[in-house]
Amino acid sequence: HANDTVNRPLVHLTPHEGWMNDPNGLWYDAKEELWHVYYQYNPNDTVWGLPLYWGHSTSKNLTLWDDVGVAIEPMANNSGAYSGCMVIDYSNTTGFFGEDVSPEQRVVAIWTYNTPESETQYLSYSLDGGYSFRSYSGNPVLENNSTQFRDPKVMWHEETQKWIMVVAKAQQFKIGIYTSDDLKEWTPVSDFTRGGYLGYQYECPGLVKLPVEGNTSAGNGSWVLFVSINPGSPQGGSSTQYFIGDFNGTHFIPTYENTNSIDSGKDYYALQTFFNSPDNQTYGIAWASNWQYSAFVPTDPWRSSMSLVRKFVLEEFQANPETKLLNIKSTPILDYDALGCAHPSNGKNLFITVGNPLQFSLVQGLFDFNISFSVNGSAFGGHEFADLSLYLRGGENKDEYLRIGFGANAATFFIDRGHTAVNWVHENPFFTDKMSVNNQPLTISNNSTISTYSVRGIVDRNILELYFNNGSQVSTNTFFFTGGNFIGSIDMAVGKDNVFNVTEFSLKQLST
Ligand code: FRU
Repeated sequence: HANDTVNRPLVHLTPHEGWMNDPNGLWYDAKEELWHVYYQYNPNDTVWGLPLYWGHSTSKNLTLWDDVGVAIEPMANNSGAYSGCMVIDYSNTTGFFGEDVSPEQRVVAIWTYNTPESETQYLSYSLDGGYSFRSYSGNPVLENNSTQFRDPKVMWHEETQKWIMVVAKAQQFKIGIYTSDDLKEWTPVSDFTRGGYLGYQYECPGLVKLPVEGNTSAGNGSWVLFVSINPGSPQGGSSTQYFIGDFNGTHFIPTYENTNSIDSGKDYYALQTFFNSPDNQTYGIAWASNWQYSAFVPTDPWRSSMSLVRKFVLEEFQANPETKLLNIKSTPILDYDALGCAHPSNGKNLFITVGNPLQFSLVQGLFDFNISFSVNGSAFGGHEFADLSLYLRGGENKDEYLRIGFGANAATFFIDRGHTAVNWVHENPFFTDKMSVNNQPLTISNNSTISTYSVRGIVDRNILELYFNNGSQVSTNTFFFTGGNFIGSIDMAVGKDNVFNVTEFSLKQLST
């Protein structure tokens, strides 16, 4: 990629050239042991535009990706193959497949055909393991006289032996639920209406059952409804929220009134989970950008990357003495063996005082770091702002930095992109909106009994994924330094002595 203006991420999926947004059609091929990710793709420009296609990448290890070309094309130049999903039709409920296509590869895409007049749901199926697709002659399979009816996500519901679709009635703030025996005829069964953050519209819903980790009172699992909103999310612009509840085959009933962002950063939208993840686990991937500024980020000849793939489970925590709540816990999948490198090594009990930061020089690339620390409440006193900060400093312009940190007074993390790529950042206020030090800190946990904290950070050239306390909370944010993301050093500093005791720090360069 010699012509790239910015060094592209190494393990985050990017398009070779052109524009990418939402992940689509995620499925795992158990026969080939291969993961498939499709995505909203404009090959003709580095901004969103029609005609819009499904691009396609595959991976053996969820770490290194191969671009395998366009999978689905729209039928006209002023139309788009909008977001959707893929299912495996093992028992040939559609009748699309002959004996020659093995059951594990009988994939059917369910997606939105967008034209100036309408949004309707289409089926396409593949006879070659997910590389090329044929359009079903009976399309569309679902329509409702609307231009705001999109992003179907379909699952197989074992208990009722039916296909279940959730689909956004975007500007009515409804998620429509439909059932089917054959993916061709759909029956409306309910609407989930006006839950959580509304923003301007609902997009990209998803419904999954997640296990609850450990031995808990919450039983063996709960249903989760994902709903993306854009614009108007709590972080500004677009983000993915989720509801925990119950699903009986026709209705989703939320257990709690409240909603949560699955990732509190600014770059995690349109999350989708894989159909047929191995071992009955749930894995998902999101678009690591935000509609507020996605068209302006200084990359060329490509724009946008995906997040890392994450595994999702529920964890139970004591919100207050009376109440236990469930929270999604995220674990990133990063295959060190595929990268051919050793696992991170540790440094213990580091002593950092005001004016004596811990400093590491770095070269461009992929890093994985872990910080564990405890907060000394008595030294802090609880009144003034005391902080532990990690600075990623630009290699070309030494004044540029990305800062993340922990503010002891509010027990919150913050991230500040306001001093990255100085010239570009000043022209793009949305990039720093709601993310500066004092503006919207990240609450690490509702669990007041935690007094020690940990943060794992994965830095992949221009994207930083932070996992707090083993993934109880996550924050994904892109950043850009003048000179193409070159990071010169990382250092850790404290704003007040004796408040923070850093018990462990490890940093590993995984790749250059
Ligand atoms: C979400 C979205 C979807 C739509 C697609 C079009 O980012 O607006 O609702 O299907 O992008 O590219």
